[in-house]
Amino acid sequence: MSRFFDLVSRPAREMGGYTPKAPPARQAANGPQARLIRLAPDDDCGALRRKLAAQHGLPTEQVMVTAGSTALLSLLCQTLLTPAHNAVTSQCSFVVYALAVHAVGARLIETPLLNDGFDSQAMLDAMDDNTRLVFLANPNNPTGTMLDASAVDKFLARVPGHVVVVLDEAYHEFALHFASLRGTAYPNSLDYVRQGASVVVLRTFSKAHGLAGLRIGYGVGPEELMTYCARMRNTFSVASVAEAAALAALDDHEHIERVVASNAGQASVLADGLSSLGYRVVPTSANFICCDVGEDAGGIAERLLNEGVSVRPLRVWGAPSCLRVSIGSPEQNRFFLSAARKMAGREVPDR
Ligand SMILES: Cc1ncc(COP(=O)(O)O)c(C=O)c1O
Repeated sequence: MSRFFDLVSRPAREMGGYTPKAPPARQAANGPQARLIRLAPDDDCGALRRKLAAQHGLPTEQVMVTAGSTALLSLLCQTLLTPAHNAVTSQCSFVVYALAVHAVGARLIETPLLNDGFDSQAMLDAMDDNTRLVFLANPNNPTGTMLDASAVDKFLARVPGHVVVVLDEAYHEFALHFASLRGTAYPNSLDYVRQGASVVVLRTFSKAHGLAGLRIGYGVGPEELMTYCARMRNTFSVASVAEAAALAALDDHEHIERVVASNAGQASVLADGLSSLGYRVVPTSANFICCDVGEDAGGIAERLLNEGVSVRPLRVWGAPSCLRVSIGSPEQNRFFLSAARKMAGREVPDR
C-alpha cells in the first residue's frame, strides 16, 4: 500500500526513473574468484548508509545521505510541497526552512516563540489541510532551546496524518549530553521512525563531528518517502572524501565525548560571564548561546567586531536585542568575555 503517493508533488510521483543500486560490498564468498571489479560508480553512499543503518537498527533503504542535512531539507520540500501547500515551523528558527520552502513556491507559516522555543500547541493550531511539512529544530538554532521527549511525544501524537514531521537534530550529540547533565530526556527520535511514523530525523556531521566544510549529513525516514526524495536529488552530490571522513567519524566516540563535555563546560563559562553583565541568557542545549542584551544587539555585535570577535545579532530572526554566540575554545571564550566586559565598562580586554 502506498502511504505517500497522494501526498507527494507531481514531479516526485511521476519522475520514477533511475534508482541507483549500490554495488555489492563484495561478491558471494566463492573462493578465489570472489573479487569484484568495480566499473560502476557508487552514487548512493552505500557504505555509509549501511553503517548508519546498522548503527540505528533500521533498513538501509530508510537512510539517505546528502551533501549536508540542508540538502535533504530542500529535497523534502521539492518532494512534498507545491505552491498550493504550506509548511509550519516556529519564528526565530533555522533560516534554511524559509529558503527551501519558498524555493518551491510554497508558504511557510511561522508560529511565535514560547519560552524562547517552539510552541508545539501553536504549531498544531497552524496546520491545515494544505500543510505537508513541519520543521522542528531540536535543539533550535538560534535560541538553543530543546523540546524534551514527552513534549515531542505529545506533539507527534496530535499531528494529522497528511503531515510529515522533520525532526532536525543537527545538534543531537550536544543535546544528549546537556540532557544527561540536567536529568531531562532528549527524544529517542529514531524510535518514531522504527514505529513507522511520518517522521524524518535529520542528523549531520557538520557540528559535533566538525566536518561542516565537507558537506555531509543524512536523514532517516519512511522508506517510500525516502525513495521519492531520492528521485529529486542530483546524482553524485556527495564527495567520496566526505563519505570516507564520515565513516571514520562514526567510530571516533572519544572525539564526541571530548567535544560535548568541553562544550558544556564552556557553555557554563559563557552563561555566567554574560549573566554577570546583566544579559538574559537562554539555557542552551547546543554549541552556541543566545542572550538578550536588552538593547540593539547589532550595535554590540559591531563593537565586538572592532575588538576582534564576531557574533551573530538576531534582528533578521525578529529578535533585535538578541545575540547568538558560538561556544568557542576556552581561550576564545575568555577573549570574547573580556571584550564584552570592556564594552559594558567593566574592564580592559586582555589580548
Ligand atoms: C537546525 C540546523 N539544521 C541543519 C543545519 C545544517 O547542517 P548541514 O551542515 O548538515 O547542512 C544547521 C546548521 O547551521 C542547523 O542549525
